[in-house]
Amino acid sequence: MSTQLPDSMRAVVLTGHGGLDQLVLHSDWPVPVPAENEVLIKVAACGLNNTDVNTRSGWYSKSVTEATTGSAYEEVNEEDPTWGGAPITFPRIQGADVAGTVVASGSRAGASLVGKRVITDNWLRDWDNPLSMHNTGYFGSECNGGYAEYATIDYRNVAAINSNLTDAELATFSCSYSTAEGMLTRANVTATDTVLVTGASGGVGSAVVQLAKRRGATVVGLASPAKHEQLKDLGADALLSRSPENPGAELQQAIGRSTVSVVADIVGGDGFADVIDVLDRGGRYTCSGAIAGPIVSLDLRTFYLRDLTFTGSTIIPPHVFTDLVGYIERNEVRPMLAATYPLEELQTAQQAFIDKKHTGNIVVTL
Ligand SMILES: NC(=O)c1ccc[n+]([C@@H]2O[C@H](COP(=O)([O-])OP(=O)(O)OC[C@H]3O[C@@H](n4cnc5c(N)ncnc54)[C@H](OP(=O)(O)O)[C@@H]3O)[C@@H](O)[C@H]2O)c1
Repeated sequence: MSTQLPDSMRAVVLTGHGGLDQLVLHSDWPVPVPAENEVLIKVAACGLNNTDVNTRSGWYSKSVTEATTGSAYEEVNEEDPTWGGAPITFPRIQGADVAGTVVASGSRAGASLVGKRVITDNWLRDWDNPLSMHNTGYFGSECNGGYAEYATIDYRNVAAINSNLTDAELATFSCSYSTAEGMLTRANVTATDTVLVTGASGGVGSAVVQLAKRRGATVVGLASPAKHEQLKDLGADALLSRSPENPGAELQQAIGRSTVSVVADIVGGDGFADVIDVLDRGGRYTCSGAIAGPIVSLDLRTFYLRDLTFTGSTIIPPHVFTDLVGYIERNEVRPMLAATYPLEELQTAQQAFIDKKHTGNIVVTL
């Protein structure tokens, strides 16, 4: 490891489940040392994600049944699991979507990435069996992430990137776009599909809009009307409100048909039954989030009598990230950078992220 690197750094450290005050800024946190298969990244920007909010607040606990609010859930303690079903230990540096430069590497990581501008693939894998969904973790959840000046990660989790985009723009992609592409892949979306996207103005939703259009599908987004103009610019064919009164009739008016072949859902909650109801016979429902609430009611008659297929989507095979890097480099997807904040203002940035007045992603810069 280079001798020119500092011993200490600025970092925002999560001290436990709870409110925003659990995010504590340090100016003398130890700079991590890369293990043999890891590289050390000098972080330039790190995007915010709901995993940060859900882990901090404890929303992944089965004892929590409400929407993501961003506030602490009283019933949650350190024994409660995070996204993967097991608790994590604190202190923990969160932050998954890093853009930065590799400045050092471990003994088995090779030197070829040193000096390269990179973004991170946030799925920690068993690299002897990278398609396995077991022994997985998430950067900034099961290990320290990017809300710090330096971060370490396995060298197979970084990709050098050749792009004119800013660091902050590059930090909008990894989690949201990989998740979105994973959903579209699980649902086998093609140009013949009409895709209804919930939460279309958010990080994952705006990525689904772009990536489904990239596949040639017809895309209808559900989003707050104030955000419709930006989503039209991204290519959405039609936009309805967050909770349409009569989804079938509104679809008919917007796209000339009252049903869709695919629902890509990251919202869940009270709107779930309505989006299932507009699925065609043989339609596919794919889901990677439930920001409006995880507990929904399903009429099983609709499910089986209409021959629906449901796919959950979380852990994504490595090629999805590699593909994404290609889409970024070829300008096939656009960053939706809503705002940047300095690392020191991570609490303010996360409050803005929770308030949802923005379209796309929020990023902290270092
Ligand atoms: N499985 C995975 O690997 C994975 C990865 C990433 C994210 N996720 C999950 O997917 C969900 C969305 O993530 P994201 O990053 O796209 O979120 P986001 O950027 O916060 O966007 C969510 C969007 O949902 C809409 N919304 C509808 N009902 C809402 C409600 N009750 N509360 C808040 N927003 C509501 C909002 O748009 P309008 O205001 O326009 O309605 C908002 O823009 C989260 O639950 C997240 O945990 C899962």
